[in-house]
Amino acid sequence: MKQGYFITGTDTNVGKTWVTLALMTYFKQQNLSVVGMKPVASGCEKIDAHWRNSDALSIQQCNSQLIDYDLINPYAYELPISPHLAGKLNPAILDVVYSHFQTLQTMADVIIVEGAGGFYAPLNATQTIADLAQVLQLPIILVVSIKLGCINHTQLTFEAIEKAQLTCAGWIAVCNDAEFNCVESTIEALVERLPIPLLGVLPYVSEADFNYLAATIHF
Ligand SMILES: Nc1ncnc2c1ncn2[C@@H]1O[C@H](COP(=O)(O)OP(=O)(O)OP(=O)(O)O)[C@@H](O)[C@H]1O
Ligand SMILES: [Mg+2]
Repeated sequence: MKQGYFITGTDTNVGKTWVTLALMTYFKQQNLSVVGMKPVASGCEKIDAHWRNSDALSIQQCNSQLIDYDLINPYAYELPISPHLAGKLNPAILDVVYSHFQTLQTMADVIIVEGAGGFYAPLNATQTIADLAQVLQLPIILVVSIKLGCINHTQLTFEAIEKAQLTCAGWIAVCNDAEFNCVESTIEALVERLPIPLLGVLPYVSEADFNYLAATIHF
């Protein structure tokens, strides 16, 4: 592995998966091999007798090589609720996630790991996404959905990342709220307030085109 990033966000549904897929495409365009991972996922459907999550399936499809689903998503919970509730009978064990991560990182130049929910989303009875990020020790990319309330949520999340003594490589704005009409001034306000670089602004698109979205990312 030459590079790795952990993708967290201000909340659930903010664009972490889209950023993960855009970043994977960005690195593939630079002729680097990429592997993505979604270690803990809530909300699955049964396909051929196995629970499968749509984020993890998209990530699996975007990988540079075919990789066993269970390696990239060891914890696939049926219900679309917090992992500490959805996984009561099979709680996520960070040692297991780390051993999968170690295997995966030998398989590509770049590894991108998508979290679940926000930075303090509970993974099991005692641990959160922050603990997972601590175990992986990857630079973090903070995904922000540009909408009302995001300035507060972004600063709170950034403070939490700093408190965990993790490196934040930058943040990415995702314009996934078509109704919001203060996009530019909100991004400006965040640029003024955050001491980390803005690595990209994913524009609102009616259909996912990750080649196009990858071109909006700048490291
Ligand atoms: N650039 C964009 N333009 C339009 N819609 C977008 C864009 N990016 C993301 N979306 C939409 O925003 C929603 C949330 O995106 P995404 O699934 O990536 O969020 P997430 O943070 O990964 O959510 P989860 O916490 O469930 O993993 C999805 O419905 C997606 O289709
Ligand atoms: Mg997602």
